[in-house]
Amino acid sequence: MILVTGATGTVGGRIARRLVDRGPLRILARRPDRVAVAGPLVEVVRGDYGDRASLDEAMAGVRAAFLVTNNPQRPQEDADFIDAARAAGVRRLVKLSAHAVGHPDADDLITNWHRANEDRLRASGLGWTVLRPRAFMTNTLSWAPSIRAEGVVRALDGSSPNACVDPDDIAEVACRALTEPGHEGQVYSLTGPEALTVRQQTAQLAETLGRPLRFEQLTADQVREGLRRRYPEPVVEALMDSAERARSGSKAQVDSTVLEVTGRPPRTFRSWAAENARHFN
Ligand SMILES: NC(=O)c1ccc[n+]([C@@H]2O[C@H](COP(=O)([O-])OP(=O)(O)OC[C@H]3O[C@@H](n4cnc5c(N)ncnc54)[C@H](OP(=O)(O)O)[C@@H]3O)[C@@H](O)[C@H]2O)c1
Repeated sequence: MILVTGATGTVGGRIARRLVDRGPLRILARRPDRVAVAGPLVEVVRGDYGDRASLDEAMAGVRAAFLVTNNPQRPQEDADFIDAARAAGVRRLVKLSAHAVGHPDADDLITNWHRANEDRLRASGLGWTVLRPRAFMTNTLSWAPSIRAEGVVRALDGSSPNACVDPDDIAEVACRALTEPGHEGQVYSLTGPEALTVRQQTAQLAETLGRPLRFEQLTADQVREGLRRRYPEPVVEALMDSAERARSGSKAQVDSTVLEVTGRPPRTFRSWAAENARHFN
């Protein structure tokens, strides 16, 4: 039995869809009605990281689990999930972390939260695999409304390179780690095949959509204001820190891990854009 969390989200959803026919799959979700993955081998159970009993129940009979948490203000969530997995005799835990953890200069709330949780997992005695992706290509979906309405991409910084990764590649690597031997004790840094600036992404999207798009630079205050509508202040500051680090070129590194683990090169932003053009039209 494989347990997948985050199946209503970006990476967990892709993992669940890949595993649907590959043996017993249990999906833990706060709102099972929101899980779009179904099949004869799939069981969806209600669970919440804040409810330890629900974790204990969900772990029964589980051999391998995938964990995604997304609230850096609740560090206890990973700890409880790891404890429940250990108590249930889970053999392998694959955790979604972040690329910045491997950069000693990255010292913001989100990176430090992932870093502490990685340490906790490594010390747990469970078999573990850590996935450290660079920015998801799907983050650019946040540009869709202004692209559709005005043909404009607005961002803080148009010229810092970022080796963004297709979440399908993250999911593919996660599935290998959950189902194949040989991935235990591995930290996989995951990037796309090239580092692109927002201006370059804008140009590639324009070519894909067959119409001109314009890049417009936002001030730090404008970005902060937008983030404050979605996140609490400490998370806003962590995201601003992360954006600032990009300016030094620290997000340009391209890793060969996707190729090494899956046997094929990582997907390009151009191919992601072509597959997702409908969102921008
Ligand atoms: N986006 C990026 O560029 C990027 C880059 C590197 C690393 N990351 C890391 O990737 C992670 C986010 O991954 P994602 O984008 O795939 O996730 P996501 O789309 O944000 O979805 C989060 C998932 O976690 C579930 N969840 C949240 N709190 C829960 C709880 N208390 N109990 C049970 N389930 C809960 C959510 O369920 P509900 O539907 O119930 O909310 C949802 O399915 C974060 O740790 C982030 O730091 C992101």
